[in-house]
Amino acid sequence: MIIFSSRSVLLSVYYPQIFLILTSGSYLALSSVVALGANIICNKIPGLAPRQRAICQSRPDAIIVVGEGAQLGINECQYQFRYGRWNCSALGERTVFGQELRVGSREAAFTYAITAAGVAHAITAACSQGNLSQCGCDREKQGYYNQEEGWKWGGCSADIKYGIEFSRRFVDAREIKKTQRRLMNLHNNEAGRKVLEERMKLECKCHGVSGSCTTKTCWTTLPKFREIGYVLKDKYNEAVHVEVMRAGRLRQPTHLKVKQVQGYHKPMETDLVYIERSPNYCEEDAATGSVGTQGRLCNRTSQHTDGCDLMCCGRGYNTHQYTKVWQCNCKFQWCCFVKCNTCSERTEVFTCK
Ligand SMILES: *[C@@H]1O[C@H](CO)[C@@H](O)[C@H](O)[C@H]1NC(C)=O
Ligand SMILES: *[C@@H]1O[C@H](CO)[C@@H](O)[C@H](O)[C@H]1NC(C)=O
Ligand SMILES: *[C@@H]1O[C@H](CO)[C@@H](O)[C@H](O)[C@H]1NC(C)=O
Repeated sequence: MIIFSSRSVLLSVYYPQIFLILTSGSYLALSSVVALGANIICNKIPGLAPRQRAICQSRPDAIIVVGEGAQLGINECQYQFRYGRWNCSALGERTVFGQELRVGSREAAFTYAITAAGVAHAITAACSQGNLSQCGCDREKQGYYNQEEGWKWGGCSADIKYGIEFSRRFVDAREIKKTQRRLMNLHNNEAGRKVLEERMKLECKCHGVSGSCTTKTCWTTLPKFREIGYVLKDKYNEAVHVEVMRAGRLRQPTHLKVKQVQGYHKPMETDLVYIERSPNYCEEDAATGSVGTQGRLCNRTSQHTDGCDLMCCGRGYNTHQYTKVWQCNCKFQWCCFVKCNTCSERTEVFTCK
């Protein structure tokens, strides 16, 4: 359960009167009404760091998009891990970004990267569609000519730099304590944003008589977020175990080093990094944030992580039988109706004990 999942949930929870106005009003009404109530709303969103609260108060329209971006990341996380023992849920404190994992594991690395990327993606998309007052299309590109490749920037180029900078300011602001986890989280946030930036697309259009390409205009667009999900899932599989190096008089954590290699190697910018081994996520455990796999659906014939053996950690599974009923063999009859039969099938599903 995410508290800050959408503007309607957020507003209906914290400000029922506004919700009534909004559901019947327009987006314009939304931003002005939100501006009126920004103080009240921003003070009531749980788990915001002080600097995040300040951004919320000065940019209430953007904060709604931040919530949508975080949700985009969480939904993608749940999709990517739908067959895993860990399915992107965690026990623990609820924040704008969902529930946080206590262990500095590769799963935590993934959630940080995907939410930071989600926020950058949502802000950039909202800018391109003219939904936010302080940004729009990438003005650095508009009207310029690309000498080398012989085309002109045109249309609306997505301002990914703005989206990334906003994500950096807002998402990274939750890392207050100077701990090892802070370094890990900041690295993974940046890795998520970097992956997004590297996957920006160029779209072009030819102009001229009958499609001849006498002039060509191009613009940058955002990739589908699903693509980012797959890239980050690969990075998760190859996540790098790091250790935190300390320096200075106070021996504060200052940088990351790849563990168990001779000499000093920094992780790469787009690597996901973790500092602790993952729990096995078999049982519920508040200390690690694991919700366990009891009650999860599993597949009796699969050899993969969704198979009952692996998913249920050897505890066994329950079989539920039910009859699936649907309309079938539908035929069009002259004239004019459709006649169907009713088909049914006995099915079984399996859930972990
Ligand atoms: C922009 O605003 C419109 C109108 O409210 C909405 O339908 C659309 O989803 C918004 N786009 C983004 C990317 O937030
Ligand atoms: C993940 O697993 C938990 C524990 O079995 C379950 O309660 C939850 O609904 C699952 N979440 C999703 C998104 O499938
Ligand atoms: C279970 O796994 C098998 C083998 O991987 C697959 O063919 C089948 O479609 C799966 N069944 C369900 C219900 O997902």
